[in-house]
Amino acid sequence: MPSSFQSVSLAHASRLVNHGPTVLVTSAAGGRRNIMAAAWSMPVEFTPPRIAVVIDKSTYTRELVAASGGFALCLPGTALVDLTYAVGSRSGRDTDKFTAFGIAARPGPVLGLPVLEEGCAAWLECRLIPEPHTEQAYDTCFGEVVAAAADPRIFANGHWEFRPDNADLQTIHHLGGGNFVRAGGTIPAKSL
Ligand SMILES: Cc1cc2nc3c(=O)[nH]c(=O)nc-3n(C[C@H](O)[C@H](O)[C@H](O)COP(=O)(O)O)c2cc1C
Repeated sequence: MPSSFQSVSLAHASRLVNHGPTVLVTSAAGGRRNIMAAAWSMPVEFTPPRIAVVIDKSTYTRELVAASGGFALCLPGTALVDLTYAVGSRSGRDTDKFTAFGIAARPGPVLGLPVLEEGCAAWLECRLIPEPHTEQAYDTCFGEVVAAAADPRIFANGHWEFRPDNADLQTIHHLGGGNFVRAGGTIPAKSL
């Protein structure tokens, strides 16, 4: 299926994760692929765009990220809340979660990592910036964003547009225990 996503300039990539969405971390190495949920990620630099994400050392994702030197962050919309919880509740070490849950993915343009578009608002392909200390001590992995794209119905011209008609694509934010809130209710700050 042709992509309906539009590429996001790297200068605007940090805006995709500025508001702390729960993400799906995808990875692939040695003919294996995987996907997990992560609530803890954030931008750490505008130019070049860099992000940090906590990937526990016990996860299979961490193994594939170390082996390939990259990961992708996909931003699930509200319609994927059950899937997000499911892929965050079991390991892909013995099962291909893409097959188990019927997840469609396409190869990202720079690193070839699996990226999800159906039901997602955006994705970012990231090259791992090796930081052995933070990876070991805090499970925090840094990445440089090398490509990004978004569904233009919700992110266009470098801006999110949360509207009643795109509620299904609005990003989700984990409260804990499998409960999420969705983004929306944009409040533009007035100058004082
Ligand atoms: C909503 C949600 C958010 C999560 N956030 C994180 C996170 O930020 N970092 C992390 O290491 N694990 C997080 N997890 C747990 C992993 O997704 C989980 O351990 C997963 O089974 C790992 O899969 P894997 O072994 O296939 O890589 C989260 C789980 C859920 C359900």
